[in-house]
Amino acid sequence: MAVLRFPPEEQVIESDSEIRANLAALGIDYERWDLSRVPADASAEAVLTAYAAEIEEMKRRGGYVTAGVIDVNPETPGLDAMLARFDKEHTHSEDEVRFILAGRGIFFLHLGDMVASVEVGPGDMLRVPKGTTHWFTLCEDRRIRAIRWFQDTAGWTPHYTGSGVDKDHQPLCFGPAYLGQRAGTTVTLDRNA
Ligand SMILES: [Fe+2]
Repeated sequence: MAVLRFPPEEQVIESDSEIRANLAALGIDYERWDLSRVPADASAEAVLTAYAAEIEEMKRRGGYVTAGVIDVNPETPGLDAMLARFDKEHTHSEDEVRFILAGRGIFFLHLGDMVASVEVGPGDMLRVPKGTTHWFTLCEDRRIRAIRWFQDTAGWTPHYTGSGVDKDHQPLCFGPAYLGQRAGTTVTLDRNA
């Protein structure tokens, strides 16, 4: 369900295994998780119960101490202000870990002299290590529901770089609703070519 893009070259990768391999090479974990565990309208408590084993395993992997469900939609009070906190390039002093249950969003990852974007949707688990320069926004339907993990909730504060790099990248989501011709051809990334 994810789409990995390298904007300057318009390289577009939609194969889960290729996305996983390319992101792993960049130090980013990407996995596809089963979504059938709970109905789409399940409560946050039901979600946390249904995914308890995965939540505990992820805590062991990353030293996270808490997990919770975030759920926003266009009617969420303060949504614009919330999005404005995270749509400018920043880092965190802890990992940003998300398992997407519903909705779509787009992460931009600024790695060295390269910017990659990862559009995430239902079933995608993305783990962005602490210190990674990145920014995030929602796709057009302004909806996302996700499980988040925290090492220390006080640490999940954006530290802005002020680089302005984010202004050079349009948050264009493809998503399942995208009906037009793809802007790029699906290719295997080979930046050494
Ligand atoms: Fe962030």
